[in-house]
Amino acid sequence: MTNVAPMKGAGKTQSQFIQIIPGPIEVTDEVLFANAHLSMSHMSPNFARVFGDCIHMTRQLLYSEDAQPFLIAGSGTLGWDQVSANLVEPGKNVLVLHSGCFADSFADCLQTYGANVDQIKAEIGGAVKEADIENTLQVKKYKIVTVTHVDTSTAVLSNIKAIPNVVKRVSPDTLVIVDAICSVASEEIQMDAWGIDVVLTASQKGLGTPLGLSILVASQKAIQVFENRSTPVTTYYGSWKKWLPIMKAYENNPAAYFTTPPINVFHVSLTQIIQGSLHQEVSRCVTKAAEEIGFKGVSLSEDIQANGMSALYFPDGFTASDIIPRLLKKDVVVAGGLHASIKGQ
Ligand SMILES: Cc1ncc(COP(=O)(O)O)c(C=O)c1O
Repeated sequence: MTNVAPMKGAGKTQSQFIQIIPGPIEVTDEVLFANAHLSMSHMSPNFARVFGDCIHMTRQLLYSEDAQPFLIAGSGTLGWDQVSANLVEPGKNVLVLHSGCFADSFADCLQTYGANVDQIKAEIGGAVKEADIENTLQVKKYKIVTVTHVDTSTAVLSNIKAIPNVVKRVSPDTLVIVDAICSVASEEIQMDAWGIDVVLTASQKGLGTPLGLSILVASQKAIQVFENRSTPVTTYYGSWKKWLPIMKAYENNPAAYFTTPPINVFHVSLTQIIQGSLHQEVSRCVTKAAEEIGFKGVSLSEDIQANGMSALYFPDGFTASDIIPRLLKKDVVVAGGLHASIKGQ
């Protein structure tokens, strides 16, 4: 739950609302106050040190030795653009695993950059089955497979430990891309050990920092695929040609410039996160309490229920329009209707 900082709007200050939404989430007082400082130069040694630390800690967070973080001003969606424009050349095949509506948007982004996209769609509340992935990979060659770790419209947790195994076994050159916007720092992700090629996320969810930063981490194999492209990168702002030297420079501490980074978001240390978590325990308590008063989890079974967020069906006989406005009258803000097919439920 979030008690948010004062902001005037609709006759109430923002701090009077309680937000129970999947992001932007609450930030701790330490994070809030770390942002309360004057702007500093993005070329200063102090900022270069903070940026360098963030690169190291991002790698640590994902249990990787040598993957390449890209920390760029933007929202999570910029990660989709980076994957589409740097790793997939126009006309190449891409397989999108669908466990909720964010896969449709990732597919849309990939198509915008010229990819041929196929999707495997799980039933609502389910995750795509490994046997279906295997069968699909056997009949067609794909440049990348994308999977949403936690789809925010269903709270379904995909098995990103098992999926790369299937992909590597059937199609070793295919890269595995994980949309982890709703899971980094609230679900376990072992990038190297599980063979994941790209993890992409944003600052405003599990990382518990203000919004404004797109965080993408690419394996050395993915960087190699990018470097071996035969056609030019199809974006300017998100081009790894531009960003790779910048990230390498900051990691070794001298500052470098391509665009102006969001200084204040960086100024918050990631150390609070690298401390272990209680997400699973808390999540089960929330779902259990909700079930006791008639709600039901969207995920079809507990093993594919996310730990960092809950998606619930309203009790029988109630719809979103019965409940959400009443919650708002009590100053409680929830996210509703993300998944079009179950919008009212
Ligand atoms: C799973 C998932 N993917 C992608 C996005 C898009 O991220 P952003 O809104 O930060 O651009 C979201 C946003 O909620 C999300 O939950």
